Amino acid sequence: MEKPTVLTGIKPTGHPHLGNYIGAIKPALEMAEDSSSQGIYFIADYHALNSVQDPQKYKEYTYEIAAAWLSLGLDPEKVVFYRQSDVPEILELHWILSCLTPKGLMNRAHAYKAKVEENNQEGNDPDAGVNMGLFTYPILMAADILLFNSNKVPVGKDQVQHVEIARDIAENFNRTFGDAIKLPEYVIEEETAVIPGLDGRKMSKSYGNTIPLFAEEKALKKLVNKIVTDSTPPEEPKDVKGSSLFTLYKEFATKEEMEAMREKYEIGIGWGQVKKEVFEVMNRELSEPRRKYYDFLNNKEEIDKILAKGAEQARQTAAAQLKRIKEMIGC
Ligand code: ADP
Ligand code: TRP
Repeated sequence: MEKPTVLTGIKPTGHPHLGNYIGAIKPALEMAEDSSSQGIYFIADYHALNSVQDPQKYKEYTYEIAAAWLSLGLDPEKVVFYRQSDVPEILELHWILSCLTPKGLMNRAHAYKAKVEENNQEGNDPDAGVNMGLFTYPILMAADILLFNSNKVPVGKDQVQHVEIARDIAENFNRTFGDAIKLPEYVIEEETAVIPGLDGRKMSKSYGNTIPLFAEEKALKKLVNKIVTDSTPPEEPKDVKGSSLFTLYKEFATKEEMEAMREKYEIGIGWGQVKKEVFEVMNRELSEPRRKYYDFLNNKEEIDKILAKGAEQARQTAAAQLKRIKEMIGC
């Protein structure tokens, strides 16, 4: 039997941060280790274009995401790894699917709805700042997923609706033209915490509270020291629940270290000491990938080579599925 396909993409919209790593990259890498499925991983650069419109940044962020995946252990010999814009078949399918997607479905997509609500509250035109790339974002994502007959799509909670939309679109196609497209399922890591940022809110580029995943040692130490804490004195017991420092510690420490830290919280430990230990485990786990990351960024031809090979593999699968779909619609 054919192996099930697991596909996921990451949008290059900024420097990768710890939230991206723990929430998206780490679980996807764990899945890539599973040899009972075929992994497809890509950099969703055309998805970033609706917000990143500076060519220098567009290029740089794309390389950064590629270098992040590779330095953290994605093995391009085991999975298919490419840049979305290198696979033009995705765009062709995007148009076909656009013609099968009711506009109302897009009106209900969270990202667009949130933008309209924000505009309404501020008394702006409802569609101010909305380009068609943002509006039809879920259709491009459906094309990404459906072109490869993906079975499973690992995503963060914020992307679940998009996978459901891809399913709806696939059903529309199959109903109209006959069965050609597999219905994808999303996979969310229930376990994965929402990683807090420096100020305690969700770590996000939009809040400017991130810790870059590959910050150099000194910068990393400084940032960890900036994480907000309350004013509980050192000797007083502390709750691990809701503690940003503990949430971060847990992701990098061994099980034993985590349990030991839990006990220290119960007995009482100063925040300064916790920060020191958080930095130590983080730095221990990230120093090797950090070295590889900067090696890759200093050797972009190597990244280009890997992505070109991945695109070639992806295009073979994509072309076969697209051909089938085009025949069905009478093209
Ligand atoms: P940002 O909020 O910084 O713009 P993105 O929306 O580009 O980040 O997120 C890319 C991926 O990283 C998504 O799958 C998202 O679920 C995950 N992610 C981002 N921030 C966090 C966080 N603070 N905790 C857990 N996962 C996160
Ligand atoms: N929209 C996703 C995000 O913002 C990235 C993405 C694009 C994606 N295409 C995809 C994820 C296909 C999974 C499958 O994080």
